[in-house]
Amino acid sequence: MDVSEIIKNRRATPPRFLSKKEIPKKVIEQLLENANWAPTHKNTEPWRFIVYSGDVKQKLAMEIYSFLIDKIDSGEPINFQKVEKFKSDFQRIPVAIAIVLERDPADRVPEWEEIAAVSMAVQNMWLTATEMGFGAFWATPRFLPFLNEILKLKSGQKILGFFYVGNIAMEYPSPGRGDVKEKIEWKD
Ligand SMILES: Cc1cc2nc3c(=O)[nH]c(=O)nc-3n(C[C@H](O)[C@H](O)[C@H](O)COP(=O)(O)O)c2cc1C
Repeated sequence: MDVSEIIKNRRATPPRFLSKKEIPKKVIEQLLENANWAPTHKNTEPWRFIVYSGDVKQKLAMEIYSFLIDKIDSGEPINFQKVEKFKSDFQRIPVAIAIVLERDPADRVPEWEEIAAVSMAVQNMWLTATEMGFGAFWATPRFLPFLNEILKLKSGQKILGFFYVGNIAMEYPSPGRGDVKEKIEWKD
């Protein structure tokens, strides 16, 4: 596949379209190596990753579930159905990579630039997974900010979602895109 094909073939494959089959560690290492080559203003390299698989991932699914149920019980506006869905997705997929933003301690660039850099790192992973024939998904449930605590993130770190990777059990159709011509103004 050339780069244009990889870009167009990249899909957000929902967890129910991924199989439970394990993913070789080498594959994940390759995704993360390519993530690490994202562009980054002032070379802050603000991306951090925590890779969950096997029993640790299953245990974390339950811990997050109980933690969020406690939050709901104490009145936090968290959607119970979304918590249940998160747990079953998290248990289903073989690898979940926490996408973590680590702010430059010297605060040399605004946060949005570091979120942009982390997002570009995610796109590198996603395109690499596509080229290697794996499915992937970026999950960003609304309750994400609550998870900074349970994932024991350090100060200056923030979770931006989970990147799920798995074997594609069933192809998920592309939603397509509107015509790019409608998004461009040419000034010539
Ligand atoms: C920052 C970001 C967060 C996303 N979070 C979710 C999510 O929480 N749930 C979801 O169903 N899709 C999520 N998506 C995937 C989009 O729904 C998906 O990219 C869009 O439908 C286009 O499909 P495609 O990526 O297969 O072309 C996210 C995408 C991005 C860029």
